[in-house]
Amino acid sequence: MSQIVVIDTGGQYCHLIARRVRELGVQADICTPTDIVHMQTQGIRGIIISGGPKSVNRRDAIQCPRELFTIGLPVLGICYGHQAMAKELGGIVQKGTLSEFSEATLEIINHNTILRGLEKNEIVWMSHSDEVASVPPGFEVLARTRNCKVATMVNKQHRLYGLQFHPEVAHTPCGAKVLRNFLFDACGCERDWDVRAQVSGLIEKIRKQVADRNVLFFVSGGVDSTVAFVLCTQALGSDRVLGIFVDTGFMRKQDKEQLEIITQENGWKNVQFIDATETFFSALKDVWDPEEKRQLIGDCFLEVQQDVSAKLGLLPEQWMLGQGTIYPDTIESGGTSNAALIKTHHNRVTAVEELARKGLIVEPLTSFYKDEVRVIGEGIGIPHSIVAKHPFPGPGLAVRCLCSKEKLDIEMPKDLQKCLQPFGLKGWSVPLRTVGVQGDYRSYRNLVVLIGIGKAELQTYGEAAIKITNELPGINRAAFLVNSKISNIDKIHVKKAFLDSKRIELLREADEIVNSFLEKKQLTETIWQFPVILLPLTFGEGETIALRPVCSLDAMTAKYTELPMGIIEKLGEELLQLEGIDAVIYDVTNKPPATIEWE
Ligand code: XMP
Repeated sequence: MSQIVVIDTGGQYCHLIARRVRELGVQADICTPTDIVHMQTQGIRGIIISGGPKSVNRRDAIQCPRELFTIGLPVLGICYGHQAMAKELGGIVQKGTLSEFSEATLEIINHNTILRGLEKNEIVWMSHSDEVASVPPGFEVLARTRNCKVATMVNKQHRLYGLQFHPEVAHTPCGAKVLRNFLFDACGCERDWDVRAQVSGLIEKIRKQVADRNVLFFVSGGVDSTVAFVLCTQALGSDRVLGIFVDTGFMRKQDKEQLEIITQENGWKNVQFIDATETFFSALKDVWDPEEKRQLIGDCFLEVQQDVSAKLGLLPEQWMLGQGTIYPDTIESGGTSNAALIKTHHNRVTAVEELARKGLIVEPLTSFYKDEVRVIGEGIGIPHSIVAKHPFPGPGLAVRCLCSKEKLDIEMPKDLQKCLQPFGLKGWSVPLRTVGVQGDYRSYRNLVVLIGIGKAELQTYGEAAIKITNELPGINRAAFLVNSKISNIDKIHVKKAFLDSKRIELLREADEIVNSFLEKKQLTETIWQFPVILLPLTFGEGETIALRPVCSLDAMTAKYTELPMGIIEKLGEELLQLEGIDAVIYDVTNKPPATIEWE
Protein backbone atom coordinates (compact mmCIF):
# COMPACT_ATOMS: atom_id res chain seq x y z
CA MET A 1 0.00 0.00 0.00
CA SER A 2 1.26 3.52 -0.77
CA GLN A 3 2.17 5.85 2.06
CA ILE A 4 -0.65 8.33 1.33
CA VAL A 5 -4.26 7.47 0.58
CA VAL A 6 -6.42 10.15 -1.03
CA ILE A 7 -10.13 9.68 -0.43
CA ASP A 8 -12.31 10.52 -3.42
CA THR A 9 -15.41 12.40 -2.34
CA GLY A 10 -16.15 13.48 -5.91
CA GLY A 11 -14.06 16.64 -6.18
CA GLN A 12 -12.62 17.81 -9.50
CA TYR A 13 -9.18 17.91 -7.90
CA CYS A 14 -9.13 14.53 -6.19
CA HIS A 15 -6.51 13.05 -8.51
CA LEU A 16 -4.67 16.31 -8.61
CA ILE A 17 -4.03 15.90 -4.90
CA ALA A 18 -2.50 12.47 -5.48
CA ARG A 19 -0.49 13.95 -8.32
CA ARG A 20 0.88 16.76 -6.14
CA VAL A 21 1.83 14.27 -3.46
CA ARG A 22 3.69 12.21 -6.09
CA GLU A 23 5.37 15.39 -7.32
CA LEU A 24 6.72 15.82 -3.82
CA GLY A 25 8.21 12.34 -4.19
CA VAL A 26 5.69 10.30 -2.21
CA GLN A 27 3.54 7.55 -3.71
CA ALA A 28 -0.20 8.16 -3.33
CA ASP A 29 -3.31 6.18 -4.29
CA ILE A 30 -6.99 6.97 -4.46
CA CYS A 31 -9.82 5.13 -2.73
CA THR A 32 -13.37 5.67 -1.48
CA PRO A 33 -14.25 6.54 2.14
CA THR A 34 -15.59 3.05 2.84
CA ASP A 35 -12.57 1.28 1.25
CA ILE A 36 -10.19 2.84 3.72
CA VAL A 37 -12.22 1.83 6.72
CA HIS A 38 -12.10 -1.79 5.60
CA MET A 39 -8.55 -1.90 4.33
CA GLN A 40 -5.32 -2.97 6.03
CA THR A 41 -3.76 0.30 7.05
CA GLN A 42 -0.29 -1.17 7.35
CA GLY A 43 2.22 1.01 5.47
CA ILE A 44 -0.16 3.97 5.20
CA ARG A 45 1.24 7.06 6.84
CA GLY A 46 -1.56 9.55 6.23
CA ILE A 47 -5.00 10.18 4.73
CA ILE A 48 -6.16 13.12 2.64
CA ILE A 49 -9.88 13.74 2.04
CA SER A 50 -10.62 15.57 -1.21
CA GLY A 51 -13.12 18.29 -2.04
CA GLY A 52 -16.55 17.28 -3.38
CA PRO A 53 -19.47 18.78 -5.31
CA LYS A 54 -22.20 18.42 -2.67
CA SER A 55 -22.92 20.12 0.63
CA VAL A 56 -22.02 17.89 3.61
CA ASN A 57 -25.48 18.74 4.95
CA ARG A 58 -27.28 17.07 2.06
CA ARG A 59 -28.65 13.65 2.75
CA ASP A 60 -27.18 12.24 -0.46
CA ALA A 61 -23.69 13.66 0.23
CA ILE A 62 -20.81 11.17 0.35
CA GLN A 63 -20.32 10.25 3.99
CA CYS A 64 -16.93 10.15 5.67
CA PRO A 65 -17.25 7.53 8.43
CA ARG A 66 -16.14 8.60 11.90
CA GLU A 67 -13.55 5.79 12.01
CA LEU A 68 -11.54 7.72 9.42
CA PHE A 69 -10.68 10.22 12.10
CA THR A 70 -10.08 7.70 14.85
CA ILE A 71 -7.79 5.11 13.23
CA GLY A 72 -4.89 7.09 14.63
CA LEU A 73 -3.44 8.24 11.27
CA PRO A 74 -2.92 11.94 10.46
CA VAL A 75 -5.84 13.23 8.32
CA LEU A 76 -5.92 16.29 6.08
CA GLY A 77 -9.39 17.41 4.96
CA ILE A 78 -9.53 19.72 1.94
CA CYS A 79 -12.64 21.83 1.17
CA TYR A 80 -15.45 19.21 1.40
CA GLY A 81 -13.01 17.02 3.41
CA HIS A 82 -12.46 19.91 5.82
CA GLN A 83 -16.21 20.41 6.20
CA ALA A 84 -16.87 16.66 6.55
CA MET A 85 -14.25 16.49 9.30
CA ALA A 86 -15.83 19.45 11.11
CA LYS A 87 -19.35 18.03 10.85
CA GLU A 88 -18.42 14.47 11.84
CA LEU A 89 -16.49 15.61 14.92
CA GLY A 90 -19.16 17.98 16.29
CA GLY A 91 -18.57 21.31 14.52
CA ILE A 92 -21.11 23.28 12.49
CA VAL A 93 -21.11 23.62 8.70
CA GLN A 94 -23.51 25.99 6.97
CA LYS A 95 -23.95 28.04 3.83
CA GLY A 96 -21.59 31.06 3.90
CA THR A 97 -22.92 34.56 3.37
CA LEU A 98 -20.92 34.78 0.17
CA SER A 99 -19.44 32.09 -2.07
CA GLU A 100 -15.73 32.22 -2.86
CA PHE A 101 -14.47 31.16 -6.28
CA SER A 102 -10.86 31.56 -7.36
CA GLU A 103 -8.38 33.80 -5.58
CA ALA A 104 -8.60 34.85 -1.89
CA THR A 105 -6.11 36.16 0.66
CA LEU A 106 -5.37 33.83 3.56
CA GLU A 107 -4.70 35.72 6.81
CA ILE A 108 -2.69 33.48 9.08
CA ILE A 109 -3.45 33.81 12.78
CA ASN A 110 -1.14 31.04 13.96
CA HIS A 111 1.79 29.66 11.94
CA ASN A 112 1.61 26.32 13.65
CA THR A 113 1.92 22.77 12.21
CA ILE A 114 0.46 22.68 8.70
CA LEU A 115 1.02 26.41 8.09
CA ARG A 116 4.62 26.44 9.26
CA GLY A 117 6.93 28.56 7.08
CA LEU A 118 4.16 30.56 5.35
CA GLU A 119 3.98 34.37 5.14
CA LYS A 120 1.49 36.37 7.23
CA ASN A 121 -0.79 36.67 4.17
CA GLU A 122 -0.85 34.16 1.31
CA ILE A 123 -2.85 33.91 -1.92
CA VAL A 124 -4.97 30.75 -1.96
CA TRP A 125 -7.53 29.24 -4.34
CA MET A 126 -11.09 28.76 -3.14
CA SER A 127 -14.17 27.12 -4.64
CA HIS A 128 -16.99 26.80 -2.09
CA SER A 129 -20.38 28.01 -0.94
CA ASP A 130 -20.62 26.23 2.47
CA GLU A 131 -18.19 26.95 5.29
CA VAL A 132 -17.26 25.74 8.77
CA ALA A 133 -19.13 28.13 11.08
CA SER A 134 -17.90 26.56 14.31
CA VAL A 135 -14.96 24.18 14.81
CA PRO A 136 -15.34 20.83 16.66
CA PRO A 137 -14.07 20.48 20.28
CA GLY A 138 -10.28 20.19 20.46
CA PHE A 139 -9.70 22.19 17.26
CA GLU A 140 -8.20 25.65 16.89
CA VAL A 141 -8.47 28.08 13.97
CA LEU A 142 -5.14 28.84 12.29
CA ALA A 143 -6.26 31.08 9.39
CA ARG A 144 -9.20 32.93 7.82
CA THR A 145 -10.04 34.91 4.66
CA ARG A 146 -12.33 37.92 4.19
CA ASN A 147 -15.32 35.70 3.38
CA CYS A 148 -14.41 32.60 5.40
CA LYS A 149 -13.88 32.50 9.19
CA VAL A 150 -12.33 29.04 9.32
CA ALA A 151 -9.93 28.70 6.39
CA THR A 152 -7.60 26.37 8.36
CA MET A 153 -8.23 24.37 11.54
CA VAL A 154 -6.17 21.85 13.48
CA ASN A 155 -6.46 19.34 16.27
CA LYS A 156 -2.81 18.96 17.24
CA GLN A 157 -3.30 16.09 19.64
CA HIS A 158 -4.96 13.81 17.05
CA ARG A 159 -3.05 15.21 14.02
CA LEU A 160 -6.24 16.27 12.20
CA TYR A 161 -6.01 19.20 9.78
CA GLY A 162 -8.72 21.02 7.80
CA LEU A 163 -8.22 23.46 4.90
CA GLN A 164 -11.07 25.32 3.20
CA PHE A 165 -8.68 26.34 0.40
CA HIS A 166 -7.10 24.04 -2.20
CA PRO A 167 -3.36 23.52 -1.59
CA GLU A 168 -3.19 21.08 -4.54
CA VAL A 169 -3.95 23.58 -7.33
CA ALA A 170 -1.16 25.43 -9.11
CA HIS A 171 -2.69 28.79 -8.19
CA THR A 172 -2.17 28.35 -4.47
CA PRO A 173 1.52 29.29 -4.45
CA CYS A 174 2.06 28.15 -0.84
CA GLY A 175 0.21 24.85 -1.52
CA ALA A 176 3.34 22.72 -1.90
CA LYS A 177 4.66 23.99 1.45
CA VAL A 178 1.39 23.11 3.17
CA LEU A 179 1.35 19.61 1.64
CA ARG A 180 5.04 19.16 2.48
CA ASN A 181 4.29 20.06 6.11
CA PHE A 182 1.57 17.42 6.14
CA LEU A 183 3.56 14.69 4.37
CA PHE A 184 6.91 15.01 6.04
CA ASP A 185 6.19 16.62 9.43
CA ALA A 186 2.74 15.29 10.33
CA CYS A 187 2.96 11.88 8.60
CA GLY A 188 6.73 11.26 8.55
CA CYS A 189 6.68 10.06 4.88
CA GLU A 190 9.76 9.02 2.92
CA ARG A 191 10.45 9.85 -0.77
CA ASP A 192 9.59 6.90 -3.07
CA TRP A 193 8.13 8.23 -6.45
CA ASP A 194 9.52 9.71 -9.78
CA VAL A 195 7.53 10.27 -13.05
CA ARG A 196 10.56 9.78 -15.35
CA ALA A 197 10.87 6.27 -14.03
CA GLN A 198 7.36 5.39 -15.33
CA VAL A 199 8.21 5.00 -19.05
CA SER A 200 9.39 1.38 -18.99
CA GLY A 201 6.31 0.40 -16.96
CA LEU A 202 4.04 2.17 -19.49
CA ILE A 203 5.65 0.35 -22.42
CA GLU A 204 5.23 -2.97 -20.64
CA LYS A 205 1.58 -2.16 -19.89
CA ILE A 206 0.86 -1.31 -23.57
CA ARG A 207 2.44 -4.58 -24.75
CA LYS A 208 0.42 -6.56 -22.26
CA GLN A 209 -2.88 -4.83 -23.02
CA VAL A 210 -2.55 -4.90 -26.82
CA ALA A 211 -1.13 -8.44 -26.84
CA ASP A 212 -1.01 -9.63 -30.48
CA ARG A 213 -3.36 -6.93 -31.83
CA ASN A 214 -2.58 -3.54 -33.49
CA VAL A 215 -3.48 0.06 -32.69
CA LEU A 216 -5.07 2.80 -34.78
CA PHE A 217 -4.58 6.37 -33.55
CA PHE A 218 -6.05 9.71 -34.48
CA VAL A 219 -3.10 12.09 -34.37
CA SER A 220 -3.60 15.84 -34.44
CA GLY A 221 0.03 16.86 -33.96
CA GLY A 222 -0.83 17.96 -30.43
CA VAL A 223 1.14 16.97 -27.34
CA ASP A 224 -1.04 14.20 -25.90
CA SER A 225 -1.90 12.27 -29.06
CA THR A 226 1.72 12.47 -30.24
CA VAL A 227 3.18 11.23 -26.94
CA ALA A 228 0.64 8.37 -26.77
CA PHE A 229 1.27 7.48 -30.45
CA VAL A 230 5.07 7.45 -30.08
CA LEU A 231 4.86 5.44 -26.84
CA CYS A 232 2.73 2.82 -28.60
CA THR A 233 5.04 2.82 -31.65
CA GLN A 234 8.03 2.27 -29.38
CA ALA A 235 6.20 -0.49 -27.52
CA LEU A 236 4.83 -2.36 -30.57
CA GLY A 237 6.84 -1.28 -33.63
CA SER A 238 5.69 0.99 -36.49
CA ASP A 239 4.07 -1.79 -38.54
CA ARG A 240 1.55 -2.45 -35.74
CA VAL A 241 0.57 1.20 -35.06
CA LEU A 242 -1.21 3.42 -37.58
CA GLY A 243 -1.66 7.17 -37.09
CA ILE A 244 -4.45 8.96 -38.96
CA PHE A 245 -4.62 12.74 -39.18
CA VAL A 246 -8.26 13.66 -39.77
CA ASP A 247 -9.00 17.05 -41.22
CA THR A 248 -12.26 17.71 -39.39
CA GLY A 249 -12.66 21.17 -40.87
CA PHE A 250 -12.17 22.54 -37.34
CA MET A 251 -8.38 22.53 -37.32
CA ARG A 252 -6.18 25.60 -37.18
CA LYS A 253 -4.47 26.98 -40.22
CA GLN A 254 -1.12 25.25 -39.83
CA ASP A 255 -2.01 22.00 -38.04
CA LYS A 256 -1.75 19.71 -41.07
CA GLU A 257 1.42 21.26 -42.57
CA GLN A 258 3.18 21.20 -39.19
CA LEU A 259 2.41 17.52 -38.66
CA GLU A 260 3.54 16.66 -42.20
CA ILE A 261 6.89 18.33 -41.55
CA ILE A 262 7.33 16.65 -38.16
CA THR A 263 6.50 13.17 -39.46
CA GLN A 264 9.02 13.61 -42.29
CA GLU A 265 11.73 15.03 -40.03
CA ASN A 266 11.32 12.21 -37.52
CA GLY A 267 10.87 9.46 -40.06
CA TRP A 268 7.41 8.44 -38.77
CA LYS A 269 6.18 6.49 -41.77
CA ASN A 270 3.05 5.15 -40.12
CA VAL A 271 0.95 8.36 -40.41
CA GLN A 272 -1.76 8.95 -43.06
CA PHE A 273 -3.76 12.11 -43.80
CA ILE A 274 -7.48 12.11 -44.65
CA ASP A 275 -10.12 14.78 -45.31
CA ALA A 276 -13.39 14.32 -43.38
CA THR A 277 -14.64 17.91 -43.44
CA GLU A 278 -17.96 16.92 -45.02
CA THR A 279 -18.78 14.33 -42.32
CA PHE A 280 -18.16 16.77 -39.47
CA PHE A 281 -19.89 19.82 -40.98
CA SER A 282 -23.04 17.97 -41.92
CA ALA A 283 -23.30 16.38 -38.44
CA LEU A 284 -23.02 19.76 -36.70
CA LYS A 285 -25.08 21.91 -39.06
CA ASP A 286 -27.93 23.01 -36.75
CA VAL A 287 -26.36 22.32 -33.39
CA TRP A 288 -25.77 25.04 -30.80
CA ASP A 289 -25.59 23.19 -27.47
CA PRO A 290 -21.96 22.55 -26.38
CA GLU A 291 -22.58 19.09 -24.92
CA GLU A 292 -24.41 17.99 -28.07
CA LYS A 293 -21.53 19.33 -30.19
CA ARG A 294 -19.02 17.34 -28.18
CA GLN A 295 -21.01 14.10 -28.37
CA LEU A 296 -21.52 14.45 -32.12
CA ILE A 297 -17.83 15.20 -32.72
CA GLY A 298 -16.82 12.10 -30.74
CA ASP A 299 -19.29 10.06 -32.80
CA CYS A 300 -17.92 11.50 -36.06
CA PHE A 301 -14.40 10.40 -35.11
CA LEU A 302 -15.69 6.86 -34.65
CA GLU A 303 -17.53 7.00 -37.96
CA VAL A 304 -14.28 8.05 -39.64
CA GLN A 305 -12.45 5.25 -37.83
CA GLN A 306 -14.94 2.71 -39.22
CA ASP A 307 -14.63 4.15 -42.75
CA VAL A 308 -10.85 4.09 -42.62
CA SER A 309 -10.80 0.58 -41.20
CA ALA A 310 -13.14 -0.62 -43.94
CA LYS A 311 -11.09 1.06 -46.67
CA LEU A 312 -7.79 -0.31 -45.39
CA GLY A 313 -9.27 -3.70 -44.57
CA LEU A 314 -8.40 -3.48 -40.85
CA LEU A 315 -10.30 -6.20 -38.99
CA PRO A 316 -12.08 -4.77 -35.89
CA GLU A 317 -11.00 -7.61 -33.62
CA GLN A 318 -7.34 -7.03 -34.55
CA TRP A 319 -7.27 -3.23 -34.31
CA MET A 320 -7.77 -1.34 -31.07
CA LEU A 321 -8.31 2.42 -30.89
CA GLY A 322 -5.45 4.36 -29.30
CA GLN A 323 -6.14 7.71 -27.62
CA GLY A 324 -4.05 10.42 -26.01
CA THR A 325 -6.57 10.93 -23.20
CA ILE A 326 -4.94 12.55 -20.19
CA TYR A 327 -6.21 12.77 -16.67
CA PRO A 328 -8.18 16.07 -16.78
CA ASP A 329 -10.15 14.75 -19.81
CA THR A 330 -11.50 11.95 -17.65
CA ILE A 331 -12.07 13.98 -14.49
CA GLU A 332 -14.07 16.74 -16.13
CA SER A 333 -16.03 14.23 -18.20
CA GLY A 334 -17.25 12.86 -14.86
CA GLY A 335 -14.92 9.90 -15.20
CA THR A 336 -13.84 9.32 -11.60
CA SER A 337 -16.27 7.41 -9.45
CA ASN A 338 -17.78 10.46 -7.76
CA ALA A 339 -16.89 13.52 -9.89
CA ALA A 340 -19.57 15.71 -11.53
CA LEU A 341 -19.65 16.18 -15.32
CA ILE A 342 -18.16 19.51 -16.42
CA LYS A 343 -17.84 18.76 -20.14
CA THR A 344 -17.64 15.58 -22.17
CA HIS A 345 -14.25 15.52 -23.84
CA HIS A 346 -14.47 14.20 -27.39
CA ASN A 347 -12.52 11.08 -26.44
CA ARG A 348 -14.91 10.25 -23.62
CA VAL A 349 -18.26 10.17 -25.44
CA THR A 350 -20.73 7.28 -24.99
CA ALA A 351 -19.61 5.26 -28.03
CA VAL A 352 -15.96 5.45 -26.92
CA GLU A 353 -16.93 4.36 -23.40
CA GLU A 354 -18.66 1.39 -25.02
CA LEU A 355 -15.43 0.42 -26.82
CA ALA A 356 -13.53 0.85 -23.56
CA ARG A 357 -15.93 -1.55 -21.83
CA LYS A 358 -15.14 -4.12 -24.54
CA GLY A 359 -11.42 -3.62 -23.88
CA LEU A 360 -10.80 -2.06 -27.32
CA ILE A 361 -9.25 1.23 -26.23
CA VAL A 362 -5.57 1.86 -25.40
CA GLU A 363 -4.94 5.03 -23.41
CA PRO A 364 -1.46 5.00 -21.90
CA LEU A 365 -1.68 8.52 -20.44
CA THR A 366 -4.93 8.51 -18.44
CA SER A 367 -3.29 8.94 -15.07
CA PHE A 368 -1.00 11.79 -16.10
CA TYR A 369 -1.37 15.55 -16.30
CA LYS A 370 -0.19 17.79 -19.12
CA ASP A 371 3.09 18.76 -17.49
CA GLU A 372 3.85 15.10 -16.70
CA VAL A 373 3.00 14.12 -20.30
CA ARG A 374 5.54 16.71 -21.47
CA VAL A 375 8.19 15.18 -19.19
CA ILE A 376 7.39 11.70 -20.54
CA GLY A 377 7.43 13.04 -24.14
CA GLU A 378 10.88 14.58 -23.80
CA GLY A 379 12.02 11.38 -22.09
CA ILE A 380 11.08 9.26 -25.15
CA GLY A 381 12.81 11.63 -27.58
CA ILE A 382 9.93 13.75 -28.95
CA PRO A 383 11.21 17.16 -30.14
CA HIS A 384 10.77 20.11 -27.76
CA SER A 385 8.80 22.01 -30.45
CA ILE A 386 6.02 19.41 -30.11
CA VAL A 387 5.98 18.86 -26.37
CA ALA A 388 5.98 22.63 -25.77
CA LYS A 389 2.95 23.24 -28.05
CA HIS A 390 -0.16 24.90 -26.65
CA PRO A 391 -2.91 22.37 -25.98
CA PHE A 392 -5.68 22.32 -28.60
CA PRO A 393 -8.93 20.46 -27.89
CA GLY A 394 -9.93 17.51 -30.10
CA PRO A 395 -13.24 19.18 -31.13
CA GLY A 396 -11.09 22.11 -32.27
CA LEU A 397 -12.61 25.34 -33.50
CA ALA A 398 -16.11 23.81 -33.24
CA VAL A 399 -16.14 24.45 -29.48
CA ARG A 400 -14.63 27.89 -29.99
CA CYS A 401 -17.39 29.05 -32.32
CA LEU A 402 -20.41 29.91 -30.17
CA CYS A 403 -23.88 29.59 -31.67
CA SER A 404 -27.28 31.02 -30.85
CA LYS A 405 -30.60 29.59 -31.96
CA GLU A 406 -32.28 33.02 -31.87
CA LYS A 407 -31.75 36.76 -31.79
CA LEU A 408 -31.32 38.00 -28.19
CA ASP A 409 -31.02 41.43 -26.61
CA ILE A 410 -28.29 42.41 -24.21
CA GLU A 411 -29.18 43.97 -20.87
CA MET A 412 -27.61 46.29 -18.31
CA PRO A 413 -29.12 44.94 -15.05
CA LYS A 414 -29.06 47.24 -12.02
CA ASP A 415 -27.47 44.73 -9.61
CA LEU A 416 -24.61 44.28 -12.07
CA GLN A 417 -24.00 48.04 -12.38
CA LYS A 418 -24.12 48.36 -8.57
CA CYS A 419 -21.53 45.60 -8.20
CA LEU A 420 -19.26 47.26 -10.77
CA GLN A 421 -19.59 50.85 -9.53
CA PRO A 422 -16.63 50.70 -7.06
CA PHE A 423 -14.39 49.70 -9.98
CA GLY A 424 -15.55 52.55 -12.22
CA LEU A 425 -16.91 50.02 -14.73
CA LYS A 426 -20.18 49.24 -16.44
CA GLY A 427 -21.32 45.88 -17.70
CA TRP A 428 -23.62 44.26 -20.24
CA SER A 429 -25.18 40.97 -19.39
CA VAL A 430 -24.90 39.03 -22.65
CA PRO A 431 -27.37 36.13 -22.94
CA LEU A 432 -24.74 33.86 -24.49
CA ARG A 433 -23.92 31.11 -22.06
CA THR A 434 -20.47 29.63 -21.53
CA VAL A 435 -19.30 26.68 -19.43
CA GLY A 436 -17.84 27.08 -15.96
CA VAL A 437 -16.85 24.98 -12.96
CA GLN A 438 -18.10 26.29 -9.64
CA GLY A 439 -17.83 24.45 -6.33
CA ASP A 440 -16.96 21.26 -8.32
CA TYR A 441 -20.14 21.49 -10.41
CA ARG A 442 -20.65 22.41 -14.06
CA SER A 443 -22.26 25.78 -14.64
CA TYR A 444 -23.60 27.14 -17.94
CA ARG A 445 -24.23 30.82 -17.47
CA ASN A 446 -24.29 34.25 -19.05
CA LEU A 447 -21.28 36.28 -20.01
CA VAL A 448 -20.67 39.81 -18.78
CA VAL A 449 -18.89 42.29 -21.02
CA LEU A 450 -17.15 44.92 -18.91
CA ILE A 451 -16.79 48.44 -20.19
CA GLY A 452 -14.24 50.84 -18.75
CA ILE A 453 -15.31 54.41 -18.15
CA GLY A 454 -12.11 56.15 -19.22
CA LYS A 455 -8.97 54.01 -19.01
CA ALA A 456 -9.18 51.06 -16.63
CA GLU A 457 -6.27 48.78 -15.64
CA LEU A 458 -6.33 45.09 -16.55
CA GLN A 459 -6.19 44.15 -12.85
CA THR A 460 -9.29 46.26 -12.19
CA TYR A 461 -11.20 44.20 -14.75
CA GLY A 462 -9.82 41.00 -13.16
CA GLU A 463 -10.91 42.04 -9.67
CA ALA A 464 -14.34 43.02 -10.97
CA ALA A 465 -14.64 39.57 -12.60
CA ILE A 466 -13.95 37.86 -9.26
CA LYS A 467 -16.55 40.03 -7.50
CA ILE A 468 -19.37 39.56 -9.98
CA THR A 469 -18.88 35.82 -10.38
CA ASN A 470 -18.85 35.44 -6.57
CA GLU A 471 -21.86 37.65 -5.97
CA LEU A 472 -24.17 37.32 -8.98
CA PRO A 473 -25.50 33.80 -9.34
CA GLY A 474 -26.30 34.01 -13.07
CA ILE A 475 -22.73 34.87 -14.17
CA ASN A 476 -19.63 32.68 -14.50
CA ARG A 477 -17.44 34.65 -16.91
CA ALA A 478 -16.46 38.25 -17.66
CA ALA A 479 -14.48 39.80 -20.51
CA PHE A 480 -13.72 43.45 -21.11
CA LEU A 481 -14.30 45.32 -24.34
CA VAL A 482 -10.89 45.98 -25.93
CA ASN A 483 -12.19 47.80 -29.01
CA SER A 484 -15.10 47.89 -31.44
CA LYS A 485 -15.95 49.33 -34.83
CA ILE A 486 -19.31 50.83 -33.95
CA SER A 487 -20.18 52.74 -30.81
CA ASN A 488 -23.98 52.83 -31.14
CA ILE A 489 -25.10 50.79 -28.16
CA ASP A 490 -28.64 50.30 -29.50
CA LYS A 491 -27.34 48.15 -32.33
CA ILE A 492 -25.67 45.59 -30.08
CA HIS A 493 -27.38 42.21 -29.82
CA VAL A 494 -26.77 38.50 -30.12
CA LYS A 495 -27.68 37.28 -33.57
CA LYS A 496 -28.92 33.89 -34.68
CA ALA A 497 -25.90 31.84 -35.78
CA PHE A 498 -24.93 28.21 -36.25
CA LEU A 499 -21.75 26.37 -37.19
CA ASP A 500 -21.00 26.93 -40.85
CA SER A 501 -17.83 26.93 -42.89
CA LYS A 502 -17.91 30.72 -43.35
CA ARG A 503 -17.89 31.39 -39.60
CA ILE A 504 -15.21 28.73 -39.02
CA GLU A 505 -13.07 30.27 -41.77
CA LEU A 506 -13.39 33.69 -40.10
CA LEU A 507 -12.38 32.20 -36.75
CA ARG A 508 -9.46 30.36 -38.36
CA GLU A 509 -8.20 33.66 -39.80
CA ALA A 510 -8.53 35.38 -36.42
CA ASP A 511 -6.71 32.48 -34.70
CA GLU A 512 -3.89 32.73 -37.24
CA ILE A 513 -3.56 36.49 -36.64
CA VAL A 514 -3.27 35.84 -32.89
CA ASN A 515 -0.69 33.06 -33.31
CA SER A 516 1.54 35.04 -35.66
CA PHE A 517 1.27 38.03 -33.35
CA LEU A 518 2.41 35.87 -30.40
CA GLU A 519 5.33 34.50 -32.39
CA LYS A 520 6.37 37.98 -33.51
CA LYS A 521 6.30 39.24 -29.93
CA GLN A 522 7.99 36.02 -28.65
CA LEU A 523 5.09 35.40 -26.30
CA THR A 524 4.15 31.86 -27.38
CA GLU A 525 6.04 30.03 -24.62
CA THR A 526 5.09 32.46 -21.85
CA ILE A 527 1.37 31.74 -22.35
CA TRP A 528 0.09 28.26 -21.48
CA GLN A 529 -2.86 28.26 -23.88
CA PHE A 530 -4.59 30.96 -25.94
CA PRO A 531 -8.08 30.04 -27.16
CA VAL A 532 -9.55 32.51 -29.67
CA ILE A 533 -13.36 32.41 -29.72
CA LEU A 534 -15.96 33.69 -32.16
CA LEU A 535 -19.30 34.77 -30.72
CA PRO A 536 -22.39 36.07 -32.49
CA LEU A 537 -22.40 39.29 -30.48
CA THR A 538 -22.89 41.89 -33.15
CA PHE A 539 -22.46 45.64 -33.12
CA GLY A 540 -24.26 45.98 -36.42
CA GLU A 541 -23.08 43.58 -39.11
CA GLY A 542 -20.30 41.28 -37.98
CA GLU A 543 -19.36 39.29 -34.87
CA THR A 544 -17.06 39.49 -31.84
CA ILE A 545 -13.72 37.82 -31.12
CA ALA A 546 -12.92 36.85 -27.54
CA LEU A 547 -9.30 36.41 -26.47
CA ARG A 548 -8.68 33.85 -23.71
CA PRO A 549 -4.95 33.58 -22.87
CA VAL A 550 -4.36 31.63 -19.65
CA CYS A 551 -1.55 30.59 -17.35
CA SER A 552 -1.86 27.08 -16.00
CA LEU A 553 0.20 24.06 -15.11
CA ASP A 554 -2.25 21.24 -15.52
CA ALA A 555 -5.49 22.76 -16.94
CA MET A 556 -7.32 21.98 -13.69
CA THR A 557 -7.06 25.59 -12.59
CA ALA A 558 -6.03 28.59 -14.64
CA LYS A 559 -5.48 32.30 -14.29
CA TYR A 560 -6.20 34.74 -17.08
CA THR A 561 -2.91 36.08 -18.49
CA GLU A 562 -1.97 39.63 -17.55
CA LEU A 563 -0.63 40.83 -20.90
CA PRO A 564 0.38 44.51 -21.04
CA MET A 565 -2.62 46.63 -22.06
CA GLY A 566 -0.65 48.10 -25.00
CA ILE A 567 -0.13 44.59 -26.43
CA ILE A 568 -3.81 43.67 -25.97
CA GLU A 569 -4.92 46.84 -27.76
CA LYS A 570 -2.46 46.30 -30.60
CA LEU A 571 -3.74 42.75 -31.08
CA GLY A 572 -7.32 44.06 -30.94
CA GLU A 573 -6.52 46.56 -33.70
CA GLU A 574 -5.09 43.83 -35.93
CA LEU A 575 -8.18 41.67 -35.44
CA LEU A 576 -10.54 44.53 -36.21
CA GLN A 577 -8.97 44.71 -39.67
CA LEU A 578 -10.69 41.42 -40.46
CA GLU A 579 -13.87 41.85 -42.42
CA GLY A 580 -16.75 40.45 -40.36
CA ILE A 581 -15.25 41.32 -36.97
CA ASP A 582 -17.01 44.15 -35.11
CA ALA A 583 -15.39 43.95 -31.70
CA VAL A 584 -12.68 42.29 -29.60
CA ILE A 585 -13.08 41.33 -25.94
CA TYR A 586 -10.53 39.92 -23.47
CA ASP A 587 -11.50 37.25 -20.92
CA VAL A 588 -10.45 38.18 -17.37
CA THR A 589 -11.95 35.18 -15.55
CA ASN A 590 -9.95 32.50 -13.77
CA LYS A 591 -10.76 28.77 -13.66
CA PRO A 592 -12.78 28.34 -11.51
CA PRO A 593 -15.32 29.89 -11.97
CA ALA A 594 -14.97 29.72 -15.79
CA THR A 595 -13.39 26.83 -17.70
CA ILE A 596 -10.50 27.54 -20.11
CA GLU A 597 -12.55 26.84 -23.23
CA TRP A 598 -15.82 28.72 -23.47
CA GLU A 599 -17.79 25.58 -24.34
P1 XMP B 1 -11.46 23.35 -19.88
O1 XMP B 1 -12.17 24.13 -20.94
O2 XMP B 1 -12.26 22.18 -19.40
O3 XMP B 1 -10.20 22.74 -20.61
O4 XMP B 1 -10.97 24.20 -18.77
C1 XMP B 1 -9.14 22.08 -19.96
C2 XMP B 1 -8.16 21.65 -21.04
O5 XMP B 1 -8.73 20.60 -21.82
C3 XMP B 1 -8.78 20.97 -23.19
N1 XMP B 1 -10.03 20.40 -23.73
C4 XMP B 1 -10.10 19.31 -24.50
N2 XMP B 1 -9.13 18.52 -24.98
N3 XMP B 1 -10.78 17.19 -26.04
C5 XMP B 1 -9.48 17.47 -25.77
O6 XMP B 1 -8.61 16.76 -26.27
C6 XMP B 1 -11.82 17.94 -25.59
O7 XMP B 1 -12.98 17.65 -25.86
C7 XMP B 1 -11.45 19.06 -24.78
N4 XMP B 1 -12.17 20.02 -24.15
C8 XMP B 1 -11.26 20.84 -23.52
C9 XMP B 1 -8.76 22.48 -23.20
O8 XMP B 1 -8.30 23.00 -24.43
C10 XMP B 1 -7.84 22.77 -22.02
O9 XMP B 1 -6.49 22.66 -22.37
